[in-house]
Amino acid sequence: MRYDDKTLVVVGGSSGLGLATARAFVAGGGRVVIGGRSAERLDRVRETLGDAAQTAQIDVGNIASVARFFEAVDRIDYLFTPAASYAIAPFDHPEETALASPFEGKFWGQVRCVRAAAPKLARDGAVVLMSGAASARPPRGAALYAAANGAVEAFGRGLAVDLAPVRVNVIAPGTIDGDLWRRRPAEVRQAAFAGQTAGSLVGRPGSEGEIAQAVLFLLTNGFTTAATLFSDGGYSLR
Ligand SMILES: NC(=O)c1ccc[n+]([C@@H]2O[C@H](COP(=O)([O-])OP(=O)(O)OC[C@H]3O[C@@H](n4cnc5c(N)ncnc54)[C@H](OP(=O)(O)O)[C@@H]3O)[C@@H](O)[C@H]2O)c1
Repeated sequence: MRYDDKTLVVVGGSSGLGLATARAFVAGGGRVVIGGRSAERLDRVRETLGDAAQTAQIDVGNIASVARFFEAVDRIDYLFTPAASYAIAPFDHPEETALASPFEGKFWGQVRCVRAAAPKLARDGAVVLMSGAASARPPRGAALYAAANGAVEAFGRGLAVDLAPVRVNVIAPGTIDGDLWRRRPAEVRQAAFAGQTAGSLVGRPGSEGEIAQAVLFLLTNGFTTAATLFSDGGYSLR
């Protein structure tokens, strides 16, 4: 697949699933604009991806930062928004701010990005939002996280109506062997990978490259809109 003359904006593209998607897009001849909070991570991305990559700092939790980031972007053919930082608390946690964390860190961050990007989206362009297989098969103690992912999926369907002819889809990955889990303690990572291995049809965690492929399909397939793609090895099928 070639992406010559196309620009993909990845908010949350300095690591993990966003970086893998940016890498595949550049390999296909496209240009990327990558956002994230850490300047060091963004520097490393430019070193890795070269001239095809432009980077800028953004914190999706801060509306002024989101506005600044998108003001500096000229053209958006494709937008992907995996940026998220959140804590997962059980529904009976005493602090309401802890319960709101997945909504604030994952749902509202994507809403802010799409609102700021919308005037610059090409009419034949597309958006992919980030959910997670937990929306369909919540792990114990993660009801609010599951709900935030479900909200992202419903938001994506609504946006597909409001932004048409721009297409809008949602990706819902299972557990992926990549940067996010590599940064977590070994015992937590091993438990998550064991759950995905035992609980899925393909019997293993996914790879970041597999999710990148699925995201690029959603971005470029002209007949696919308002869809949520569960790229989870069959994990959400109990
Ligand atoms: N990996 C999995 O197994 C998996 C499975 C299902 C769903 N997901 C979802 O996929 C998304 C990303 O996962 P990942 O594996 O790619 O994680 P990751 O490797 O941690 O990447 C997250 C990216 O988002 C950026 N980011 C985080 N908070 C941000 C903020 N407030 N503002 C701007 N940028 C921010 C990070 O850079 P900075 O920290 O420098 O800002 C980084 O570039 C999350 O929504 C996660 O729930 C992941």
